[in-house]
Amino acid sequence: MLTVKNLYAGIEEKDILKGINLEIKAGEVHAIMGPNGSGKSTLSSVIAGKEEYEVTDGDIFLNEESILEMDPEERAHEGVFLSFQYPVEIPGVTVTNFIKTAINQTRKAKGLEDMPASEMLKMIREKSELLEIDRKFLSRSLNVGFSGGEKKRNEIFQMAMLEPKLAILDETDSGLDIDALRIVANGVNKLRSEDNAVLVITHYQRLLDYIVPDVVHVLMDGKIVKTGGKELAHELEEKGYDWLKEELV
Ligand SMILES: Nc1ncnc2c1ncn2[C@@H]1O[C@H](COP(=O)(O)OP(=O)(O)OP(=O)(O)O)[C@@H](O)[C@H]1O
Ligand SMILES: [Mg+2]
Repeated sequence: MLTVKNLYAGIEEKDILKGINLEIKAGEVHAIMGPNGSGKSTLSSVIAGKEEYEVTDGDIFLNEESILEMDPEERAHEGVFLSFQYPVEIPGVTVTNFIKTAINQTRKAKGLEDMPASEMLKMIREKSELLEIDRKFLSRSLNVGFSGGEKKRNEIFQMAMLEPKLAILDETDSGLDIDALRIVANGVNKLRSEDNAVLVITHYQRLLDYIVPDVVHVLMDGKIVKTGGKELAHELEEKGYDWLKEELV
């Protein structure tokens, strides 16, 4: 599904990613953990195509096709979804309208007509029930005045509606209370299938009790210094990151 090959990227004169290799197969969930400032959000942004970062070497493939030359919209149409650590507020655009527009733009890019209103409504009803989202919430302006947990839940709702091939969740757990964490994680689990892949970025092992990853990677100073199974997350929770510093050369 996703192949990242020897990826170097940075901003202006600063190198942030220093040779990342990553392979996520369809049906898999990978987690990335790592200290603050190690490049986790940069990696997600570069995969999603944010133009502020410059890729200086390497390549990114989605289903064997390089996506490096695609802008963020094209990548989204190809099925890349990125949740934001800090979501934007859009006054005057409701949660529902935002998602309708996003879905219909993707359909348009594929040469399809707009989704019929009845079908859209049915899907909104199903997905909001799945994620236990209050209908009133759907008519509010996007992210305006949303609590931290509401923003996160809204992101997962967008993901559920868009049915991406590759979902990247950047610190989806930060700021969620215990019930919301469970609901969001259940939502992600229900959306897991043999046709999609998920990359979860988190600081805490706790989220990975709910969304059980197939593979855990540790990112430090722009490099993946360790890869293991879900037990690696437990080990990190216990030992922190210091013991991995010797892997950095
Ligand atoms: N737009 C930017 N301008 C300047 N520096 C940046 C920019 N984006 C990232 N960086 C720098 O690159 C490094 C990696 O940042 P990044 O946000 O990827 O870290 P992170 O691993 O996601 O950290 P956290 O766990 O705190 O979210 C940091 O030193 C950060 O200051
Ligand atoms: Mg980050």
